[in-house]
Amino acid sequence: MKRRSSNRKNNIYLPIKGRIESIVPLTEDVNFYRIRSEKPLSYGVGQFFMVSVWGYGEVPISVCSLPEKPEILELSIRKVGFVTNAIHRLKEGDELWFRGPYGRAFPMELSINRDVILIAGGIGLAPLRAAIHWLIKHRKKVRHISLLYGAKTPSQLLYREEFTQWEKEGIKVVLTVDSPEDGWTANIGVVTTLWHHIDVDFKRAVAYICGPPVMINASMLDLYRFGMPLSNIITTLEAHMKCGVGKCGHCYASEKYICTDGPVFSYEEIKRYRLL
Ligand SMILES: Cc1cc2nc3c(=O)[nH]c(=O)nc-3n(C[C@H](O)[C@H](O)[C@H](O)COP(=O)(O)OP(=O)(O)OC[C@H]3O[C@@H](n4cnc5c(N)ncnc54)[C@H](O)[C@@H]3O)c2cc1C
Ligand code: FES
Repeated sequence: MKRRSSNRKNNIYLPIKGRIESIVPLTEDVNFYRIRSEKPLSYGVGQFFMVSVWGYGEVPISVCSLPEKPEILELSIRKVGFVTNAIHRLKEGDELWFRGPYGRAFPMELSINRDVILIAGGIGLAPLRAAIHWLIKHRKKVRHISLLYGAKTPSQLLYREEFTQWEKEGIKVVLTVDSPEDGWTANIGVVTTLWHHIDVDFKRAVAYICGPPVMINASMLDLYRFGMPLSNIITTLEAHMKCGVGKCGHCYASEKYICTDGPVFSYEEIKRYRLL
């Protein structure tokens, strides 16, 4: 019996039980989940958890909160397929399981005494929401903060209710969409058309990027051309993951395990595989 309990303790795949405290729809297909964990948690900005529903499977999901309350985890989940649809069928009070945190966090301390640019596309704003909370917490130590955020349509922008508060905290929020809807007065086009909206010392600034690969590539290349040091251009990379802990090889790409070497990388680290 003793041996069995020690095996259970060392099993890295055993998930922690959480209970969904609240579900808030953010868009037609993205819900915001506030989860109470049965154990206290500690995690960094940009890390992810393997989130599971019994009988369906596990998916990697970035944490979009700071661990200020160690028993609370906030996740924003878009329903795209088998597991995420199962998560979306859960109700408040239901169990949701997770293991982690996994992966490298954003090096947020790079922001100290620098201008910061956050560049996000679609669901990519989820991990950057945690970065925004970190920057607000350390506001006095950070110079200008700008968020350039794009989505396909205005109704697909995440966290719309939080933009006003972020602006009050001194964050310049610049929005763009591919296709406007009635009443849309902000920008139309890709996020890399928004640079003229921000007043930044690119040579000293730091950028945190999360979104579709095409947006990441175009943003990194522009920032490089503007003179931002490659080590200050920080991005997350997408991958299909199974284990999340460097064992299965599913996420292996270009000599890196995205789950353990990443998902956060500097342009310096990945430039030989990207556009430069
Ligand atoms: C580190 C990391 C963090 C992530 N954070 C979030 C998050 O905060 N919120 C969120 O909604 N999603 C996030 N994702 C994406 C999420 O993990 C996938 O949407 C999910 O795994 C899809 O599983 P499924 O069973 O619902 O879909 P499936 O039935 O497996 O697939 C449905 C469709 O989604 C595609 N797909 C599946 N997995 C991925 C993936 N990892 N990347 C891109 N496309 C995929 C499939 O190719 C298919 O077209 C993250 C992914 C990674 C790697
Ligand atoms: S997901 Fe298994 S090695 Fe990365």
